[in-house]
Amino acid sequence: MADPVPSTDAAALNAHLVDGLVRHGAIRSPRIEAAFRAVPRHLFLPGVPLDEVYRDEAIPTKRRDGVPISSSSQPAAMATMLEQLGVEPGHRVLEIGAGTGYNAALLAHLDGPAGEVVTVDLDEDIVVAARAHLAAAGFGPDRVRVVLGDGGEGFAERAPYDRIELTVGAWDIAPAWSDQLAPGGLLLLPIWLRGAQKTVAFGRPTDGSGALLESVSVTDCAFMRLRGAFAGPEAFLALDETGTVTLGLDDRNLIAPAAARALLDAPGPAAPTGVAIRPRDLWQGLALWLGLREPGFCGLHVDGDAAAAMGAGLFTMGAGHRWTVGLLDPTAPACCLLVAGDRAQDGPERAEDHLIALAIRPHGDATVLRDRLAAHVRAWDAAGRPGSDGMRIRVSSLADAAAPGADEIVLAKRWTRLVVSFGASSPDR
Ligand SMILES: C[S@@+](CC[C@H](N)C(=O)[O-])C[C@H]1O[C@@H](n2cnc3c(N)ncnc32)[C@H](O)[C@@H]1O
Repeated sequence: MADPVPSTDAAALNAHLVDGLVRHGAIRSPRIEAAFRAVPRHLFLPGVPLDEVYRDEAIPTKRRDGVPISSSSQPAAMATMLEQLGVEPGHRVLEIGAGTGYNAALLAHLDGPAGEVVTVDLDEDIVVAARAHLAAAGFGPDRVRVVLGDGGEGFAERAPYDRIELTVGAWDIAPAWSDQLAPGGLLLLPIWLRGAQKTVAFGRPTDGSGALLESVSVTDCAFMRLRGAFAGPEAFLALDETGTVTLGLDDRNLIAPAAARALLDAPGPAAPTGVAIRPRDLWQGLALWLGLREPGFCGLHVDGDAAAAMGAGLFTMGAGHRWTVGLLDPTAPACCLLVAGDRAQDGPERAEDHLIALAIRPHGDATVLRDRLAAHVRAWDAAGRPGSDGMRIRVSSLADAAAPGADEIVLAKRWTRLVVSFGASSPDR
């Protein structure tokens, strides 16, 4: 349940927001708490009503074709990332995705007058507005330099950086981000692992493995995607005119939207998998398991009014949004989706706690794909239903042709190979 909001005064509203971030564990360290208390979010969102500004929600600030392309990120997500990033006084920090400038101001508060923050954004109007917001909050160009450019290039002029943070989702690690990182530095970015987006902090390897980078910490996230020349091939294909039904794919060229729509409009009878899950198991575990192993991983998202027809059997995620995941084989052509069968047991009141029998709904010539998906569901269940706990990612160059170990999964990207493995815990630094 949302906490009651006590006041309409900006300072009191901010205090209330920060208290909540501390209570819910997004803010864990006093320095990050102090930064959030000191920097008022409303100065970065002029014209937005104060009660909206000081909710723990992302606020879109620019759209293209109805789709948000810039926003002030959710404060809890920003706090979680700042905890991962560990900015110290005097650090030189590069942010990619200036947006409103709010996170850059928090970074500048953390690295102090002896530090330096450079933040990059792709659009001139966003850059101009971020500069104005930062100036209003007392952060002039001597504290935060806002640069117009493609963050995929980094910003070589002030490299190397102690910390590089992307506040926009990437598909791969662009060469400049690794090249411009100082020895001992950290690169933090939301990265698409095909079945899930995760915020991963990477440092230089300490084990002499010859890898470019290795993960230090991993958290969940949901960020809009990088635009421009360094954008990945991943896409949400709109399957209707209003964009309320979308199919998420790792490669937009896998299937044409009309062909995908034709497949999904012709469902076969759903078959039980024999496995029951809670809705959160899907996004915290099974989706990642499938995506890491299957290039044909897909996610079907259905919003609002379209939910009634296309959303049958999908899982509810937030108000009016339904989704599920599955596998696509464009050559068959076939698509198989995981759908909710009956409730597997009576019990908890909250819908998110219901245990639901998982079924597979086939579309097209799907016998082979259905068996493949069912085998993954059983294997994930038999493996103890892993999520991203203990996940490690080693980043090497594409030239590294070393065969993966038995417990390793390789995602070949444009510039790097991500070698994903699961251990008991992540290395501490
Ligand atoms: C979620 S917003 C960032 C929020 C921001 N840090 C703040 O505090 O308001 C993502 C931003 O990334 C920017 N962006 C997208 N692609 C980019 C790219 N290739 N280079 C630089 N910025 C990019 C978008 O224009 C958008 O402003």
